[in-house]
Amino acid sequence: SFEQSLRPQVLSQYIGQDKVKDNLAIFIEAAKQRKETLDHVLLYGPPGLGKTTLAAVIANEMGVNIRTTSGPAIERPGDLAAILTALEPGEVLFIDEIHRLPRAIEEILYPAMEDFCLDIVIGKGPSARSVRLDLPPFTLVGATTRQGAISAPLRDRFGVLCRLEYYSENQLTNIVLRTAEILHTGIDREGAIEIARRSRGTPRIANRLLRRVRDYAQVQGNGKITMELAETALERLQVDRLGLDHIDHKLLKGIIEKFKGGPVGLETIAASIGEESDTIEDVYEPYLLQIGFLQRTPRGRMVTKLVYDHFHIEIPTM
Ligand code: ADE
Repeated sequence: SFEQSLRPQVLSQYIGQDKVKDNLAIFIEAAKQRKETLDHVLLYGPPGLGKTTLAAVIANEMGVNIRTTSGPAIERPGDLAAILTALEPGEVLFIDEIHRLPRAIEEILYPAMEDFCLDIVIGKGPSARSVRLDLPPFTLVGATTRQGAISAPLRDRFGVLCRLEYYSENQLTNIVLRTAEILHTGIDREGAIEIARRSRGTPRIANRLLRRVRDYAQVQGNGKITMELAETALERLQVDRLGLDHIDHKLLKGIIEKFKGGPVGLETIAASIGEESDTIEDVYEPYLLQIGFLQRTPRGRMVTKLVYDHFHIEIPTM
């Protein structure tokens, strides 16, 4: 589809994550030379950094199809068995949010990953018996936001572990320019830099902001995205100079105003601002930690001096 073509199809089109790309290129090449399937790959890192895209690139580079599912979508053993037995030899099975697989299902995955076989129980009670089905060799690509969120036995069965990192401003600028070209949107480098700067190191956010700024340029401007136009549009979208949005503000100001800057426990601050603690931990907190706005201490989360500066709030004296 058109949407798909926005995503890079091969490693050479994929911008950033250089270490991950260099390693994968070697493992893919080696597997192809030996005419083997690629070892199972675990991709981990904050949302929006390209885990799904990379899974598709891996399949494409291996010259095989990808089947996509997610941890929460697999509810019963039969769901997983149906997916595994439908695989063709060498295919990639992509399980997004693999840390959310129910435990009982995870255990079915172990022999499937290790020996390409499936132990299924037929019947119930005393007459129940177990049969072993052979599966075609396949590559499991799992994605998770936190490496620590998946169990050790599952993690140990992946031969390749890839940690995705936040993108630099320069990499994001190049992603914005690439996407703008595919969308036939006029943009200059300064305009792209302005969007990149406010994208929290995250291509998904950069591409979303690009689309909104493009709308603004089309209706309120002359269609061309410049730095000035991007600035105006992004202010209107309530994306501040560092890319922090309404929820980041609520979180940081909540810690300052309700908890004297912290430390405060994750659950406590989440409840006090009416957000899910998992969302804060997986989506909001990683970037705030990365830019030094938050610190994790044994007693909870604390804001740093940078936050007071950013909001022009005076640091309280004790
Ligand atoms: N679009 C989104 N992420 C990308 C990336 N890493 N490289 C190229 N285009 C992208």
